[in-house]
Formats: sequence, structure tokens, C-alpha cells
Amino acid sequence: MTTASDSGTFPTGLRERAVASLTAARARTAVLTDAVTDADLTAQHSPLMSPLVWDLAHIGNQEELWLLRRVAGRESLRPEIDPLYDAFQHPRSERPSLPLLGPAEARRYAAEVRDRVFDLLDRTPLEGSALLDDGFAFGMIAQHEQQHDETMLITHQLRRGVAVLEAPEPDAPYDPPPAAEVLVPAGPFTMGTSTEPWALDNERPAHVRETAAFWIDTVPVTNAAYLAFIADGGYRDPRWWAPAGWEQIREHGIEAPLFWRQEGGQWLRRRFGVTEPVPGEEPVLHVSWYEADAFARWAGRRLPTETEWEKAARYDPATERSTRYPWGDADPTPAHANLGQRHLRPARAGSYPAGASPLGVRQLIGDVWEWTSSDFTAYPGFRAFPYREYSEVFFGPGHKVLRGGSFAVDQVACRGTFRNWDLPVRRQIFSGFRTARDV
Ligand code: AVJ
Ligand code: FE
Repeated sequence: MTTASDSGTFPTGLRERAVASLTAARARTAVLTDAVTDADLTAQHSPLMSPLVWDLAHIGNQEELWLLRRVAGRESLRPEIDPLYDAFQHPRSERPSLPLLGPAEARRYAAEVRDRVFDLLDRTPLEGSALLDDGFAFGMIAQHEQQHDETMLITHQLRRGVAVLEAPEPDAPYDPPPAAEVLVPAGPFTMGTSTEPWALDNERPAHVRETAAFWIDTVPVTNAAYLAFIADGGYRDPRWWAPAGWEQIREHGIEAPLFWRQEGGQWLRRRFGVTEPVPGEEPVLHVSWYEADAFARWAGRRLPTETEWEKAARYDPATERSTRYPWGDADPTPAHANLGQRHLRPARAGSYPAGASPLGVRQLIGDVWEWTSSDFTAYPGFRAFPYREYSEVFFGPGHKVLRGGSFAVDQVACRGTFRNWDLPVRRQIFSGFRTARDV
């Protein structure tokens, strides 16, 4: 195989897809912001996060910036608020002290922008410029809103007080995996995409990479497995830890995943306002890259590289093609993966056999974001689009790549090629991991 071969086109109905994606995102934004009082919306629940009302107006402001101003050439609706909602001008910790729009005003502003965007979408050809081709800018903005919805869900998880969100328990199909790990053969495969219409700049372009053969866990690491690491004194043994990770757990007295505590010999966790026993069969959640890395070393294994992760998720040995998702090119359904905040937790490990990759790796998409060993870097031939601050300014050794999406990720912002990144100390995100080893 010498040329990159990936596959990704929307079957039909680009305009309908744009309307449906924007509408679904706004419905979720409403769920997250209507669940709490105005006082709660303007409060800062953690210095790590913005007040929810900031995310709400920022969602509207980015939509105005890209669709009404850049695409349609309109004037700013409210020039005085633009700097308040520029994420690069004010760190999250400062945002509560800014003269932000109040809840009612923020809702009105976002709704006004949306009305104008739907007018525009009715009348604009979805071709003729890089922003308009395949409706990219509309897709990008739907993904942006869904990403902030996940951010707001993290704020809900950090918030103290009674539960305000509800969702049914996962009812996922379950089938015990036939083996604990899967062998991925050596050889080339296509990484990234040049054909997926709404893929973001950092997923592009498609290119060929080689890997050696490797073993990868069939399912994400579970709470039960992680508890064995804790019980074995994993948090007290510097042999397992990267030096900066050891420093972090010592400085902050960390001895378990975030939101866990021990009571009378039992491990409990707080999940969206409810305290409950830690379920052993569920993928571990709220661990830092350092915790994932230490667990893997303790287990005599390692984290997969980002390249290995994507090969495990997309490579079909029968056709030598890379598919859009582990199960093929079709969009996700509830039988494939736990996505879209349908549930407020991961499904047990071994769920979604229909979502397995051709080689039999499970739950790569949805449930928990998976830390990889890799730094966030540009693919060969990368071009920043449409703005350097989406991806490019984060490239480098400071950020580690996470793959696959969590239960809090919507399908519009989730693909086999989708890349997320964060600092290796982060634990409030919906992060877990699986491990790998050399053959
Ligand atoms: C890709 C999730 C790291 O939330 O910081 C939102 C997404 N970029 N607004 C983030 C994003 C601009 C980004 N992550
Ligand atoms: Fe943003």
C-alpha cells in the first residue's frame, strides 16, 4: 500500500445534516443550562471551569463569528461583548469577574444568532469556499457547541449539591469478550483523513504509517483492575510513576481517581450529585495521564501510541482500508457505542459487541476518552484551518492525546480519526484508558 486510503463521505442531505446537528446541539445546551438556577449558572463551581453562563454565550459568539461574520460577511451584533468570549483573552479562573451577559441575555443572544444562521443556511450554497464546501463551517460550529456541552457536563460533575441531571442507566448489549487482548499485525495503515467532510484540521491529511505488531486490551481498563493497583500500593510506589506524576500525587495527596473516597473499607464515588459504590465492571473514569501511565507500568504493560490506537480502531485487514469507525463506515447507532449523553456513565466493559473493530477490539468509541502515550503533534502536511487557535497552538510536548470519545461526546464530534488533547495532570475530564504491549 503506497497511497493513503480512507473513506468518508456523507451519503445524502448535507443541509438537513447541518440543521439536525445544530438543533441537536442546542437541545443539549438547553438541558445543561435549564437544569440549574440562574445563581448556579453564574457561579464558578471550580477554578478549572468557566461559569456555565460563559459557555452559553461563548457558544453563541463563536457561531456568530464563524457563520454570520466570516461566512456571510455581517457586522458584529454586539462588538462590546466579543472580547469577553474570546477564550484566549481571559483564562477560565478570571471569567467570573468579567461583565458577562446574564442568563436571560445570554439565552436571547444565542437564540438570535441561531435564527439568523438558519436563515443563512436556507439561502447559502454549501460550496465555493473552504468554509462552505460540504457545509464545513456549519459542521464545525455544531461540533464546537457539542464540545462545550461536554465541558458544561464536566462543570456539572464538579458542582456540589443535589443531583439535577437524569438519564436512564446504560442498557447496552453485553457479550463477554473472548480474550483479554487482541493482536494487531505489523504493517502499514492509513491514519487521519482527507475525505471526511467535517473532520477538523488536526485530523488531516490522510497518510500512511507503519507499526510493529502489538497487543492491545480488548476493552478499557475497569475499576476492578484499577482497584487492584490501588490495593497493591500503586500510589505509594515511585517505581510506577513518571517523575512529574509522582510529584503531583505527593503534592495533592492523590490516592485514587478523582471523585472517589473510601468509607469503612469500601470505595465510593460521587457521580453527578449521587454517591454510590464504585462499580467494578465499569471502565475507570477521571484518571490523569500520569495515573494511566503508572497503572500500565505496574501491570507490566504500556499505554498505546496514538498511531496504534487508530490502527486498532480503523484498520480492516480484509480490505486494507481504514474505516470511519471500528464497525465500518456507517454513522453510530445506540447498538454501536455509548455516546451523546444518553447515559450519565460508561457502560460495563464488554458492552457493544456490534461496535467492535474487525480485529475484535471493543468500546473504542464512546464510554471513556482513552489516554494514549503520544504528544499532540501535527500530521505531515497539516494546515491550520480555519484558525490556529483550534489546534496548532496546542501542538507540542505539553499535551497528551486522548482518543475515542466518552459517553459525554456527541457523534457529530466523534470519529475514528477524531483527536482530543489535554494536560497530563487533568482528571476532571471523562478520561480512562486501555493498555498495550509489544509482541
Ligand atoms: C478539543 C476539547 C481540547 O475544549 O479546549 C472548544 C475544544 N476548542 N472551543 C477545548 C474547543 C475551542 C477543545 N478541546
Ligand atoms: Fe470554544
